[in-house]
Amino acid sequence: MNKEQQLSDNSNPSQGLGLIFLIGFMGSGKTTLGRKLAAKIGVEFIDLDHKLEQQVELSIAEYFTLFGEGPFRKLESEVLKKTIYPDNAIISTGGGLPFFFDNMEWMKTHGKTVYIKLSPKTLADRLESGKEERPLLQEKHGDALITFIEQKLAERESFYSRADIIADGLSLTAEKLEQILEIKAT
Ligand code: S3P
Repeated sequence: MNKEQQLSDNSNPSQGLGLIFLIGFMGSGKTTLGRKLAAKIGVEFIDLDHKLEQQVELSIAEYFTLFGEGPFRKLESEVLKKTIYPDNAIISTGGGLPFFFDNMEWMKTHGKTVYIKLSPKTLADRLESGKEERPLLQEKHGDALITFIEQKLAERESFYSRADIIADGLSLTAEKLEQILEIKAT
């Protein structure tokens, strides 16, 4: 195949990728892995938490303090559904998003969902630092943090596990995620 044919063939394999929604608990690595994978395969990366923060010009922690969780969940669902997406993108989502309204079904209808799964203990180790920006975790340490994560995961697991792909989050890299998604290198 010559160069012109390749170009007109749209042979970049990340074309046709569609929308990939990364879901999972806080601290599972959605944003870090998503950003790396998107850069690697040359598609846009969208962080829905960040979009929400830009829209309201407040951090999520500030929004929670001012308005509480109910209005936050409505807004997060609106941001999910009203964002104008490119044809191909990797999207990281807030940890609670799949659990509310019909968000999980919406994501499955509009793209592919990938659950990055980790144990409560591993999540707690990762979340011990960086709690300030996560309003649900403030004031929780040690055993209280693990218990909180276990309870929330138990509530959310049946939603997370409806994902099209379940990926073991332990030692997951952008390269492994790329293989899981069966995207061939360009
Ligand atoms: C939340 C997760 C956060 C953020 C908000 C609530 C949750 O996103 O949306 O603090 O309910 O699990 P990350 O998973 O990106 O930390």
